[in-house]
Amino acid sequence: MGNKFLSSALLIIFHFLTSTSSMKLTSILTDQSALLMLKHHVLHDPQNILTANWSGSTPVCSWFGISCGSKHRRVTAINLHGLGLIGTLPPHLGNMSFLSVFSVSSNNFHGRLPVELSNLRRLKHMYFGNNSFDGEIASWIGSLTRLRSLNLSHNNFQGAIPFSLGYLPKLEILSLFENQISGPIPSSIFDISSLQRVNLRNNNLSGSIPSVSRDSVSLESIDFSNNNLVGHIPEDMFDHTPNLTGLLLSDNLLSGRIPSSLFKCKELEFLSLSYNHLEGSLAVEIGNLSTLQVSLYWSEPLSRDNTRPDWQSQEYRMVEFGI
Ligand SMILES: *[C@@H]1O[C@H](CO)[C@@H](O)[C@H](O)[C@H]1NC(C)=O
Ligand SMILES: *[C@@H]1O[C@H](CO)[C@@H](O)[C@H](O)[C@H]1NC(C)=O
Ligand SMILES: *[C@@H]1O[C@H](CO)[C@@H](O)[C@H](O)[C@H]1NC(C)=O
Ligand SMILES: *[C@@H]1O[C@H](CO)[C@@H](O)[C@H](O)[C@H]1NC(C)=O
Ligand SMILES: *[C@@H]1O[C@H](CO)[C@@H](O)[C@H](O)[C@H]1NC(C)=O
Ligand SMILES: *[C@@H]1O[C@H](CO)[C@@H](O)[C@H](O)[C@H]1NC(C)=O
Ligand SMILES: *[C@@H]1O[C@H](CO)[C@@H](O)[C@H](O)[C@H]1NC(C)=O
Repeated sequence: MGNKFLSSALLIIFHFLTSTSSMKLTSILTDQSALLMLKHHVLHDPQNILTANWSGSTPVCSWFGISCGSKHRRVTAINLHGLGLIGTLPPHLGNMSFLSVFSVSSNNFHGRLPVELSNLRRLKHMYFGNNSFDGEIASWIGSLTRLRSLNLSHNNFQGAIPFSLGYLPKLEILSLFENQISGPIPSSIFDISSLQRVNLRNNNLSGSIPSVSRDSVSLESIDFSNNNLVGHIPEDMFDHTPNLTGLLLSDNLLSGRIPSSLFKCKELEFLSLSYNHLEGSLAVEIGNLSTLQVSLYWSEPLSRDNTRPDWQSQEYRMVEFGI
């Protein structure tokens, strides 16, 4: 008992010491050394941007792609989008405690995301899409509680989507499309009430579509197309998504009928359910979705001679409805 008390007291003191000392020690010099370390980890810089511009003789806040906060003069944003950089991310970036926007999208960064990035407590926007990152999508991402955009699309991420992503209370954009992610879609992602767009297209996800059990008025689009999802679309899926404008579920193994709750989505513009094993016909109410623009509705791939399975006459009806 006494021992337990002592050790937790020590733990608290230790925690206090380490957190205060790291607060004291990080400064703009910490940011500078982390960025120089990033420069060092860039193996190829075809436009010589970092090589020429990220130099110790000019202030960090004036370096290309770097923004600082006006009060504290710490780096708040890194924007290295589309510079053709090849390299890896060093762990030192985790020391940039004021970083809020981190974009390295459309480069050729590879390797794993260093776990030290989990220290970036102020990070709001993580744009890492269109690179060659690999490994699993780490569960520590769930500890970046201020995150609003998580874009890891078009990389080589594998493994399952961690359940912890559902702990991101402010997440608005979750883009994981074009990776090799497998396993089920964690039901926790629809617990995020701020979620606006979720795009998991072109992966190897399996299992069924989780239901949306709480009010998700922010939810605008769901794209789960081209995966291996099975089972029915949950009957009550659309009871809580009044502002859904896009539902893209084509190229899966979904079966059963289209839930009639779908017609509660009066804002629906894009609907794609083709290449599944869905059955039945579209309810007449589809004609009441006046904003619907695109609706692909084949249960089977088009055959070569372009003959269409029977129930696609629904499509013509939709055309007749002037949708
Ligand atoms: C570095 O880039 C910034 C922003 O583009 C520019 O204002 C500055 O003149 C550049 N400095 C050098 C030394 O090239
Ligand atoms: C920053 O991070 C690296 C590696 O994660 C570490 O070795 C270093 O001591 C840290 N602190 C500072 C102040 O740079
Ligand atoms: C991906 O990045 C490459 C350069 O690395 C660029 O040419 C291409 O247009 C980008 N693609 C997308 C979809 O942004
Ligand atoms: C995510 O990143 C990719 C690649 O850079 C880009 O094409 C896409 O528009 C981004 N998506 C969102 C929702 O930000
Ligand atoms: C996709 O997942 C299935 C199991 O669900 C597996 O058999 C298959 O090899 C995976 N395909 C790829 C390309 O990873
Ligand atoms: C979503 O719809 C509700 C009504 O169902 C509306 O009050 C709200 O403003 C909408 N929210 C957004 C983010 O569009
Ligand atoms: C659909 O619209 C028709 C009129 O075009 C109306 O009679 C019907 O009640 C509407 N149905 C629903 C479910 O809103």
